[in-house]
Amino acid sequence: MLLIRNIGQVLTLRGEPGARRGPAMRELGIIENGAILVRAARIEWVGTTKEIPVRMPGVRYEVIDGVGLDLVALPGFVDTHTHPVFAGTRANEYDLRSQGRSYEEIAAAGGGIPASVRQLRAATVEQLVNRAERNFWLFLRHGTTTIEAKSGYGLSTAEELKILTALALLKTRSRLEIFSTFLGAHAIPEEFRDSRDDYVESIVRDMIPAVVRDGLAQFCDVFCDTGYFTVEESRRILTAAREAGLGLRLHADQLGHSGGARLAAEMRALSADHLEWIEDPDIAALKEAGTVATLLPGAAFNLRSKYPPARKLIDEGVPVALATDFNPGSCYTLNMQIILSIACSQMRMTPAEAITAATINGAHAIAAADRLGSIEEGKQADIVLMNLPDYREIPYFFGVNHCAVTVKRGKILVNRLEKS
Ligand code: NIG
Ligand code: FE
Repeated sequence: MLLIRNIGQVLTLRGEPGARRGPAMRELGIIENGAILVRAARIEWVGTTKEIPVRMPGVRYEVIDGVGLDLVALPGFVDTHTHPVFAGTRANEYDLRSQGRSYEEIAAAGGGIPASVRQLRAATVEQLVNRAERNFWLFLRHGTTTIEAKSGYGLSTAEELKILTALALLKTRSRLEIFSTFLGAHAIPEEFRDSRDDYVESIVRDMIPAVVRDGLAQFCDVFCDTGYFTVEESRRILTAAREAGLGLRLHADQLGHSGGARLAAEMRALSADHLEWIEDPDIAALKEAGTVATLLPGAAFNLRSKYPPARKLIDEGVPVALATDFNPGSCYTLNMQIILSIACSQMRMTPAEAITAATINGAHAIAAADRLGSIEEGKQADIVLMNLPDYREIPYFFGVNHCAVTVKRGKILVNRLEKS
């Protein structure tokens, strides 16, 4: 058993079933001076330190005691939008953007996703796994216990399968929990520039069946945007994915108002991501469809683009999640804490809304809220401790890693308390 006690604030995130919307996003279910009891991989009990159940005789207890420390416990972050398998970085593009070039200009000049594709095709599975494994450890150290991970830098059947195979290997090598997404429709590869229909055809006819046959992904995503895939192409791909049994998500309205959010609602996708250019009628459609709006303010921050209308989405009743978008191009961070800071300071989300968005609503965005995203009896014991007196300091005290303890499936993977 693992007993965590004398925690200033335990953010349980308990509440009504279903993704949190509107005012419910501000309810964190806080227990002051709280305690959590974990048995094997599950949460056995949560309450105040005063009410801890009597110890069972003959059972060994491991104890984390927050007495004299400032600690906030919360569910491990659920980061539901990442591109973590890549073979090299693109610091040169960062440098160019700092000199005023735009993401689109750099992509048109041969950088962008195609640059990552060239690098990835030259790498072995082993190289991809090794690089990603180091980053997966960093996710855990920053308080993220689950990620959604996309392919999308391969853009051929063999290369996309290579990425998804790397992710399957990583599931056995890393303690970080991974939900895999097939994103063969991330860009039109250079060799299909003059025959884009053939590429869409190969996604539908070859790639999706191969991915499903090998059980390599749970979801399918499409970059539906200006210069990438049209609404018609995206609909075709997502329809084939749905028929093959994959869950649906979409990169929508990031670079322009291209119809992605509307399509996500039409297809009843689990999640519509980015949404910088979403318009009011699309907001109503997302609400009606129950699609989670996954906002990625780190990408807007890094690309100096406008931010998605988080306030409006929440006030209109759309369930909002937050994710990093970790990738070597548009957003090279895997630290959810800084995403919360950007969400609060730039999009006017409240700290409570941001935490809900990064935990229980993320779990809903990957259809795993029955197991993840809150500290409740029976749920998986994915718990992080932040070395802070007040949860609002998670976004407020920004640019610092406050994560002192990471517990995944009941195992303590990170413990920096001794040193603090
Ligand atoms: O989510 N928008 C599309 N995909 C990524 C960018 C990927 C890249 O630039 O390598 C994103 O921002
Ligand atoms: Fe992305």
